[in-house]
Amino acid sequence: MHLTCPLCQSPLTRTDRSWRCPQGHAFDEAREGYLNLLPVQHKKSRAPGDNDAMVRARRDFLEAGHYLPLRAAVTAMLQPLAAHTLLDIGCGEGWYTTALCDVVPRVVGLDIAKEAVRLAAKRDPRATWLVASAARLPLADASVDVVTSLFSPLPAAEIARVLVPGGHLLVATPAARHLWSLRAALFDEVREHAPEKFVASLAPHFTRVQQQAVGFPLQLDGAALANLLTMTPYAWRATAAKREALAGLDSFTTDAAFTVQLFRLAQGD
Ligand SMILES: C[S@@+](CC[C@H](N)C(=O)[O-])C[C@H]1O[C@@H](n2cnc3c(N)ncnc32)[C@H](O)[C@@H]1O
Ligand SMILES: [Zn+2]
Repeated sequence: MHLTCPLCQSPLTRTDRSWRCPQGHAFDEAREGYLNLLPVQHKKSRAPGDNDAMVRARRDFLEAGHYLPLRAAVTAMLQPLAAHTLLDIGCGEGWYTTALCDVVPRVVGLDIAKEAVRLAAKRDPRATWLVASAARLPLADASVDVVTSLFSPLPAAEIARVLVPGGHLLVATPAARHLWSLRAALFDEVREHAPEKFVASLAPHFTRVQQQAVGFPLQLDGAALANLLTMTPYAWRATAAKREALAGLDSFTTDAAFTVQLFRLAQGD
């Protein structure tokens, strides 16, 4: 799983805490241990990806354990693959990635949001943490056994490029009725999520080999509810009155509903 230069795609080698390519492009590890491989010319905004408030709300929500059954389902699906190398795309602040390190020896966590990667690097030194874009993965061709994308971007051709022949892609998405009663409290009309939509974009490169529904009740206290509203982008589209009515509650019960799917790289890709 060799790192490659985001500017010229040559291999990067490490001396002390600096990574260099043969063309002389150099990238220094941050104090927290992560590596920033997102050159300014590849940034579409000053601070791309999730903003700091979303990142911290998600960290606190996940840290409280509300999504533990989902994390357990993801690691259970991965374990039989006996992978040596794994790339977690859109790793956020690394709450899932850390559990992936328990089942796979070499893990790279990658996210475009620097604050998320900074928190991830402080959380777990076992993984290699990268600030980078999913659109141009800074990894060598055919060098990764498994890619995970948990509620994160899915650049199908790039994922296919970095996977070894026969490699796997694990995807977690919200299922149609995820957080249904929460959404009913936020919106006059609630639409089902369309979790199958992305599968079409994977079709040229991947074959689905496994699919699992993971659902469980969520008992939220006031703090968890506030964090969930902050980390969920569509909640911001609700009217201020509805958001405030919800934010004032000190408990709320709803249901989490996810789909976890495993794909295999198609032969000849
Ligand atoms: C919904 S969050 C999921 C985070 C984490 N996997 C989790 O489930 O807790 C999506 C993540 O994708 C990241 N992201 C968005 N666009 C990206 C891109 N082009 N490249 C890499 N990461 C990206 C965001 O910064 C954010 O951390
Ligand atoms: Zn270079």
